[in-house]
Amino acid sequence: MTSCRVCNSDIQPFMSFGDMPIANGFLMEEDYPEEFFFQMEVAFCKQCCTFQLINQPAPERMFHENYAYFASTSRYMQVHFQAFAEMIVKRILHDRTDPFIVELGSNDGIMLKHYKDAGYRHLGIEPSENVADVARAQGIETLSEFFSFDLAEQLVAQHGQADAVVCANVLCHIPDINSVAAGFATLLKPDGVLTFEDPYLGDVIKKTSYDQIYDEHVFIFSATSVSSIFERHNLELIDVMPQITHGGSMRYMLAPKGSHTVSHSVSKLIETERSQGLHRCETYEQFRRNCEKSRADLVGLLETLRSCGKRIVGYGATSKSTTVLNYCGIGPDHIEFISDTTPIKQGKYTPGVHIPVKSYNEFTANPPDYAVLFAWNHAAEIFEKEQKFLNDGGKWISFVPEVGIIE
Ligand code: SAH
Ligand code: TMP
Ligand code: ZN
Repeated sequence: MTSCRVCNSDIQPFMSFGDMPIANGFLMEEDYPEEFFFQMEVAFCKQCCTFQLINQPAPERMFHENYAYFASTSRYMQVHFQAFAEMIVKRILHDRTDPFIVELGSNDGIMLKHYKDAGYRHLGIEPSENVADVARAQGIETLSEFFSFDLAEQLVAQHGQADAVVCANVLCHIPDINSVAAGFATLLKPDGVLTFEDPYLGDVIKKTSYDQIYDEHVFIFSATSVSSIFERHNLELIDVMPQITHGGSMRYMLAPKGSHTVSHSVSKLIETERSQGLHRCETYEQFRRNCEKSRADLVGLLETLRSCGKRIVGYGATSKSTTVLNYCGIGPDHIEFISDTTPIKQGKYTPGVHIPVKSYNEFTANPPDYAVLFAWNHAAEIFEKEQKFLNDGGKWISFVPEVGIIE
């Protein structure tokens, strides 16, 4: 028994994924002996409805000057964040005098650059120095710190309160969510708005996309849990907007209680979550069985193909793939290499199971019989540019929502 990271109630893990390495911890052979592993177990809190990791490695192990995730590698995500910025300008910033916008986890500046280009006072909080430097090089104000309540107080003293705070794929990374929520309550103006998006629990459960669970993702949120977490800090959920990014995400807007009207979509989504059973322990028991089936199916498929002498490679050395490969025990015997466009990953090996990561050129120069689509959340973008692979007889293997060969 352990206690909930949000409300301190007793919680019990319902599933273990076994020993897991750092999802973005791509490494060289000489670093194998020091590779770090942790027990990846998940729990659901019946009191506050929050899905969470029991153990999470220290933030400094995951976010540092060699962080491997550069947000701008996907063209689709660039377009997505431009639209996100336009929405914030239209709904919050456009009619305010000299508004101030803060982004947490601003990474290489993929979203902040739009506020900067429009002349808004902005600040990114990005602890991973290497990605932050890419943003700074474009003139985007960036502070390399971990956001917390203490930092929020310092920011207010230095810059004043914020009109808008935005975050994408970062709140689900921060274990002390109560410190962060208290920090938002301090940082926001009385009429300020917090907007954040993260992978959505409803999609993870529906699609058995268990690969969203890895060291960085200490929480997988739903509207029910977000509402309950932030209510404790006097912030009210005022709107929700489903997103297709990262295989199904939710955008949440919150504001100091009573300062904004609450959209009907909030209560509608919370009702939908109830009918999906997101508040019931049985749902998570079923999820565990679905994960076990997915693992057996994927390993079975790869072994059958290998026994017929087929060549299989992976497409996209995603953070998510670390969970799939380690949970399923899939290694270089099954998958020859994984192709990825991110230079910092190339020439290294994947965390835990040590499959070589190679450049995209290797994929086109030496196309396999089958490619496992680890970057399945970017399927549309990838299929569009990989027509030739299919035309030449190549086939895709997918494992979300079900394991199979895409014909
Ligand atoms: N927002 C980008 C990047 C997401 S990756 C996108 O959606 O594509 C998550 C980012 O959050 C990383 O760059 C990481 O360094 C940063 N991060 C992790 N913990 C943080 C914290 N406590 N405060 C601010 N940023 C944090
Ligand atoms: P993500 O799923 O966390 O966004 O990571 C996507 C990874 O996939 C990233 O390492 C870049 C890689 N990638 C490719 O190699 N080719 C592609 O076409 C796309 C879209 C991503
Ligand atoms: Zn709880």
